[in-house]
Amino acid sequence: MANASAPPPFGGDSSFVGRLFAKTSIDAMRDDKRPSQLRRALRARDLIAVGLGTMIGGGIFTTIGPGVKLAGPAIILAFVVAGLASFFAALCYAELGAMVPIAGSAYTYAYATLGQLVAWIIGFALLFEYGISAAPVAQQFSSTFQSALNAFGVTVPFAIRTSHFIFDQNAWWDITKWDIVHSQYDLIGAAFVLLLSVLLVLGIRETATANNIFVVLKISALVVFVFFGLSLFHAGNLVPFAPLGWGSLRPFSGGEGAGIIPAAALVFFAYIGFDTATTTAEECRNPQRDIPLGVIGALAIGTVIYCTVAVVLVGVVPWRQVDENTALASALRPLHSPFIDWTITMGVLAGTTSVALSSLLGQTRIFYVMSRDRMLPPFVSRINPRFKTPALMTMITGVGVALLTLIVPLDNLLRLVNIGTLAAFIVVCAGVIWLRHKRPDIPRPFRSPFVPWFPLTGILLSLILVVFGLSTATLEWFLGSLSVGLVIYFAYGFRKSDPSALARGE
Ligand code: ALA
Repeated sequence: MANASAPPPFGGDSSFVGRLFAKTSIDAMRDDKRPSQLRRALRARDLIAVGLGTMIGGGIFTTIGPGVKLAGPAIILAFVVAGLASFFAALCYAELGAMVPIAGSAYTYAYATLGQLVAWIIGFALLFEYGISAAPVAQQFSSTFQSALNAFGVTVPFAIRTSHFIFDQNAWWDITKWDIVHSQYDLIGAAFVLLLSVLLVLGIRETATANNIFVVLKISALVVFVFFGLSLFHAGNLVPFAPLGWGSLRPFSGGEGAGIIPAAALVFFAYIGFDTATTTAEECRNPQRDIPLGVIGALAIGTVIYCTVAVVLVGVVPWRQVDENTALASALRPLHSPFIDWTITMGVLAGTTSVALSSLLGQTRIFYVMSRDRMLPPFVSRINPRFKTPALMTMITGVGVALLTLIVPLDNLLRLVNIGTLAAFIVVCAGVIWLRHKRPDIPRPFRSPFVPWFPLTGILLSLILVVFGLSTATLEWFLGSLSVGLVIYFAYGFRKSDPSALARGE
């Protein structure tokens, strides 16, 4: 029952604008005594593995080749720029994650700081970072799996090799112009997503154990690459270091342009996921200590690995000769070692599996929290009594992502995921500045240093990557999907949700 001193609905302002900017109470979230139905099984070690599980995957193996074509040996700088943008955001994720140890990540933080409308937009951006990102990763798994099959003389039929749905870009809604017969479908990738969804339905503890094994496998592959690559390293390959410069300063020309910034906007994909620990706050044993450790630990380990791999790659192969599709494996071909080939193949398969698994896990947890806030219908957060996981929503998410994997080309997916994630970074950094100003009294087990300068730098770097690194088409698709998201918000969340409900004990 609601108590007498509890806040009224919408904090007392239920006008249209008041509702759009109504915020959840951080104090109520911190005191939240609602029994969580999720199991508290994860430790700091698991959180770093969950972060690395979502971070190191297909990205390093598949974006590094096209990245070198855009930046030359300065791909190393591109990894540093993307890593820096992630670093400033990571400090902010860690501060908010330790302060508000409730699942839901940037969505939850935005709801507490910037209000309901922004929270919804961020929930939507996170759909790109988590749910949709599993699709390109599954496609990367599929193409590597097919190469492995080829080595055994098995070739997959053309129609199900990759995703390329033929339709009129300017009239995509016109079903009569869809060419279903001549399109290609990534069937292996889609089946892979469905399989992982079933694994997630079976339970988090089993998933975390499997994840730890995958993390070890993929990091071993990168260590093997660096170790053997050093024997072929020629410092002369690093000169000239930045043959294509920083890139065009024309806004949204990144899709076409070359240079370090467009390369950074592409390889940024490889960093996505270090913040996944924040989505599992309600499944941690000691969230206040372990979430900062999980977020910053995963990013630090991943950055060192990426920069080292980039240095070795451009030192081994003259940058113009780097193979775009299989950059790492091809670089070590002169060693004629089946051991290296297979280790890298296993690394990609393990990496993509763990990334897709953790991304799908993060997505279902974000949906779970949004539904608990009544931003999405109640069935979304229904926990299956037997498996103790949001089983129904996990399968619905799985089917949606499998469809994307089946028909949308890799490149389009990669850039969409990047723009969604950068949008979430910007809001998280802004949230830290805002809350330090508005609520300096709340205990912060972890504090980002140099506020507001560090978060402002995070915002600036993310904006540079979006504006000068991505293309107009990416922006249009992102804004187009966001409009659909807003229609859903006004049709459901805006009418049903009340951020003061938690403070009233409802
Ligand atoms: N960072 C993830 C990857 O590289 C998404 O696959």
